[in-house]
Amino acid sequence: MLSHHPNTVALNAIGHTRWATHGVPAERNAHPQIGGNGELAIVHNGIIENFQELKKSLLAKGYVFRSETDTEVLAHLIAEGRKHTGSLLEAFAWALRQAHGAYAVAMLCPEEPGTILAARMAAPMILGIGVGEHFVASDIPAFLPYTRDVVFLQDGEIVRITDHSWEVLALDTLNPVQKSIQTIQWDMQSARKGGYKHFMLKEIFEQPQVITDCLTGRIDEEHERILLPELDSLPVPARLHIIACGTSYHAGMWGQHLFEDWARIPVIPEIASEFRYRNVILEPDDMVLVISQSGETADTLAALRLARERGCLAIGLCNVVGSSIPREANAVIYTQAGPEISVASTKAMCSQMVILSLMALYYAQRKRLLDPQTRHEALKALKALPDQLALSLPSMRETAQKLIQPYSAARSFFYLGRGHAFPLALEGALKLKEISYIHAEGYASGEMKHGPIALIDPEFPTFAIALDDALFPKVKSNIVEVQARRGPVIALTNPGTELHVDHLWTIPAAWGPFSAFLALPAMQLFSYEMADYLGKDVDQPRNLAKSVTVE
Ligand code: G6P
Repeated sequence: MLSHHPNTVALNAIGHTRWATHGVPAERNAHPQIGGNGELAIVHNGIIENFQELKKSLLAKGYVFRSETDTEVLAHLIAEGRKHTGSLLEAFAWALRQAHGAYAVAMLCPEEPGTILAARMAAPMILGIGVGEHFVASDIPAFLPYTRDVVFLQDGEIVRITDHSWEVLALDTLNPVQKSIQTIQWDMQSARKGGYKHFMLKEIFEQPQVITDCLTGRIDEEHERILLPELDSLPVPARLHIIACGTSYHAGMWGQHLFEDWARIPVIPEIASEFRYRNVILEPDDMVLVISQSGETADTLAALRLARERGCLAIGLCNVVGSSIPREANAVIYTQAGPEISVASTKAMCSQMVILSLMALYYAQRKRLLDPQTRHEALKALKALPDQLALSLPSMRETAQKLIQPYSAARSFFYLGRGHAFPLALEGALKLKEISYIHAEGYASGEMKHGPIALIDPEFPTFAIALDDALFPKVKSNIVEVQARRGPVIALTNPGTELHVDHLWTIPAAWGPFSAFLALPAMQLFSYEMADYLGKDVDQPRNLAKSVTVE
């Protein structure tokens, strides 16, 4: 955030609470970062994808780097731009045009005291219009105590503010852009939640952006290749133990299908608290992949230590940079989902699934197993997901809201799925019990007849995941079995399938297993709406903690 206050002496300032993407949380990596020999200071939210290339050429020109951040690269690049252009504004635009990726950036410079330049590309930035003071920030709450008048900046726009003026320019041409001022009605509390009633709802709706962020810099568009340099120096695992707890475990189970299908790597998904107390067999070529949003879950960390003691290479898949698991793993991939506040995990699972998809494709690439057509289809589908999901979320929420009332008296629920939808069924059930306190069981639909079907009666509804894939006819038969016992059924399905159930919930399909990226938020919204309808504490459910650092 940065602000610009009026006073007899004009004061301007920039600052940033950093969510680490490059470089551990440490003072040298904190913002602002300084460019050149102190010619300018910048703060930056986002990721500069091509920072390594840019850094190489700046090092060759003699720039000295004091941090591991991509932000410092941008700072030096602007300083370099000063040598090639006539004005500070031009230098700023010159540098930004070379930076690929996502950024919201703001700059201060002694050369033009009293001015702040800022720009946005695929990361939020809002201008706040005050009286004798102006602000730019990533989020409205940063300046809401000072003004409610805002201008929403678009990608590829630069803004120049002083205490008494503001103008928006196009990054490409530096021509002025006409903008309109809007007045925000939210109070501070709802502003922190981006206008959403709960963090959980906000985080569910952030998933399209999360997918974009996870894909950023990880696909070489020209050659249709997956880039996961974090894994390049490690061998391809002969067998992979995926170890995690809770929602992260479900993501791992889902990933198993992709690793086995595309990369032909045998996968054993493991609950961390079980793995650590078994005399597990780890072969010399086995590797472990530990998945943890927080990077601090005690059982997952202990499982990682055990695997490493046994001489096994370990990869961490985490969201919190610099947490314990990344520090102790041989390699780490960060999910870049941003902070997750709600105790019930939503967007973290989505981000883990994106990375697991990329990892499976990456290993298939290293093993030369993937035919170009499948790879092309997979990448095309992944890249299409953010828009597809963003378009679908509002109507999914409406459907979830309509479905709640008829089922709100249920004491128990079944969630059924097959194949890669089985882990989704487990996750759907977990979400429902976590926040609405309704008992729910996730089951592999083919396994239901071996016991649980005895529970079915008109009071015991089933939420069936019946996506349009090869297993659809099997799931359909399982649904009919439930209906034969007079159990009510909600079926989550795709257009074109034929099902006769109490409530048919049709969501768009995506290529192959990626329909999961649409099914997951539908189930999250169902649980969210149920918990909210029942008046439960959605973001802070009883007895649960966000990060479980005890055994
Ligand atoms: C807790 C949280 C869950 C989470 C699990 C694993 O139980 O309430 O939402 O899935 O821990 O957390 P991790 O940070 O390791 O992914």
